[in-house]
Amino acid sequence: MSDTAPVHVRHGSSIGQSLTRAEGMLKVTGRARYAADHHPADMLYAVIATSTIARGRVVALDLAAAKAHPGVIDVMTPANAPTLAQDPDLKGTPFTFRMELLQNDQVRYANQSIAVVVATSLEAATEGAALLHPTYDVETARVDFDDAPRFVPDSVGVGSPSKDTHGDVEAGLASADRRIEATYDTPAQYHNAMEPHAIVAAWDGDHLTIDTPSQGMAMAQARIAGLFGIDAADIFIRSPFLGGGFGSKGLISGPQILGVMAAKLVGKPVKLVLRRDQMYGPVGHRSPTRQTLKIGAMADGSLTAIDHHTVAASSSFDDFFEPAGGVTHTLYATPALSTTYEAVRLDTGTPLFMRAPGEASGSVALEGAIDEMAFACGMDPLEFRLKNYAETEPLSGKPFSSKALRECYEQGAKRFGWAGRPLASRQMRDEAGLLVGWGVGTATFPALMFQAEARAELRADGTGTVDIGAQDMGQGAWTALAQIAADGVGLPLEKLTFNMGTSDLPNAGIAGGSAHTATAGTAIHNAGGAVIAALAELATNDDRSPLYGAGNTGVVARDGRLFRRDDESRSESYETILTRAGQASVQGKGQAAADPATQKDYAMHAHGAVFAEVKVDPDLGQVRVSRLVGAFAAGRVINPRMVRSQYFGGMIWGISFALQERATMDRRTGRIVNANLAEYHVPVNADVPSLEAILIEERDSHVNALGIKGVGEIGVTGTAGAIGNAVWHATGIRARETPIRLEKLL
Ligand code: MOS
Repeated sequence: MSDTAPVHVRHGSSIGQSLTRAEGMLKVTGRARYAADHHPADMLYAVIATSTIARGRVVALDLAAAKAHPGVIDVMTPANAPTLAQDPDLKGTPFTFRMELLQNDQVRYANQSIAVVVATSLEAATEGAALLHPTYDVETARVDFDDAPRFVPDSVGVGSPSKDTHGDVEAGLASADRRIEATYDTPAQYHNAMEPHAIVAAWDGDHLTIDTPSQGMAMAQARIAGLFGIDAADIFIRSPFLGGGFGSKGLISGPQILGVMAAKLVGKPVKLVLRRDQMYGPVGHRSPTRQTLKIGAMADGSLTAIDHHTVAASSSFDDFFEPAGGVTHTLYATPALSTTYEAVRLDTGTPLFMRAPGEASGSVALEGAIDEMAFACGMDPLEFRLKNYAETEPLSGKPFSSKALRECYEQGAKRFGWAGRPLASRQMRDEAGLLVGWGVGTATFPALMFQAEARAELRADGTGTVDIGAQDMGQGAWTALAQIAADGVGLPLEKLTFNMGTSDLPNAGIAGGSAHTATAGTAIHNAGGAVIAALAELATNDDRSPLYGAGNTGVVARDGRLFRRDDESRSESYETILTRAGQASVQGKGQAAADPATQKDYAMHAHGAVFAEVKVDPDLGQVRVSRLVGAFAAGRVINPRMVRSQYFGGMIWGISFALQERATMDRRTGRIVNANLAEYHVPVNADVPSLEAILIEERDSHVNALGIKGVGEIGVTGTAGAIGNAVWHATGIRARETPIRLEKLL
């Protein structure tokens, strides 16, 4: 427990337990209701018609044909779309991105919404959309990353500088005994959550009820309120379950807003669900990058400089530049470092956050280049990393908890059996003659905190309630946050009602940036502290209580009782305290936010190391990952089962990143040619070997009261690099391009 945790609150009875998912039974029995499972009375179906061109404008739609369909109720186009209170191209907060809401005939990318057909059935709406036969005024799509003019963006990610330097990189490179320069390419990737973006929207006057998957209900409320000119308090969002989000549901998307507009247009509840192929455009994606690393080191392997230059792509009409250089600020101790950016514009939807935005692509390049540098120094790549990992954050100079990283390297290596790895490539074969290679990659992700609120109540019947508008996108929030809540109010889980997943509950911020457990958990913990303090106040001021005189920091709460800290034989149940005081219940509120003072003094990151074994067919170039071992240190572990599962999910995405995922644009039309799950490759069970994730104990008292860091995204960051390095070790070929395809290895 950190120094800042309220001393009267006890931890450990629920936190730390590997409980199974609280909502698991609902999910496996099909009773969990996802957004698209809702069917309010009189509901109609909306289907989006999307553009087949990537740039130009819509000249005509055959509205008559669509409206002649017996099931079609109406077709929403720029001619009749409800008037919005705000231009959807207006940039409000740093988290506001432009969306296409049928306000004009312009087409900015393929798969953009150009009309919405509302009908009595999904089939009729689908047929109606097909009858529109749009004609276009087509302009040549800008699809070529290589030839597009480059410019230096003002900022990257959300407000990060596009140039960061520390020390003299030129001098560091010049004075080095060994230098490498390597360029790594990563492709556009699209979120492929199992559940597509979906919305069921119902207006009642100016009051709006929507069922939609959201990683951040309060931000969605604010955006909808702005667009429709209504109060956020009049928007009720239910989002208890998400079938994955990965960042694509962090902000409400254009198609979701179109569902709300369609419901307004027809005056009835409307359901709108994106088809899989329609997700390739309007809901964000990971930008392609080209990253050039120049690294210098002395003959003994100590780094002298790292220069990391990224070229990223954004859309033609909005700005989001993949902040791939961020990892280089935080991993390796070097007297000089520089991260710089250029960007190009393509006729695509705007790229956005996708699981470990920046770190995922950046670590592929950095970890590959570090491996190349290790080899140039004649050193084992693990030994090189152990020599060079930073003990204070290189860019800021602030102390941070990278000591745990050493343990990740050491324990991971031991478990994997790294010792005795041959330095040179092409040295190992298995019994079938396949080339075998071993690689390591460092994992890192910032420990972020957003703002959240929570409330707690304890009742005279010995039960309690904790409320927070948190979101579970599959990561386990229903379970882990309830565990924090139970310990926070000192009740066993079965006496606690834990509510989340609707927007009328206190704002839990966004389930993103791997910060949801830290943020929502801290607010819950603080609400627990407040309600226990109120209860202790009642007891310790009452001379009929065995706790009389202890003061409210002189008690410990657990199992529905308060105990005197200095004499645990003196205790009293919550029921007794409240009943005697004549109170039905007692309430408390808690908040969470990053502490600027602590953030000024400390850098905060989770760390890890991933070890990969690959087998490569020497004749066919086919790569299989045969083993993956990850060791991660991410602060306090609330639920080891959920945490391990998050690491596995990240590591599997790392396999995907290294070997499978790539969206390919048709150079003539600007359309994504593989906008489906048959040709956009993601791993299936047969692609995933035995996985191991080692949970390294770490107590970090600076990040937040409970010492929680994020676990959702870090697993992606080391894995793809480790696999690329293992492929080199097996074959002697540095692919320097993901996905690593077999033709590169022949
Ligand atoms: Mo994540 S890309 O912050 O949902």
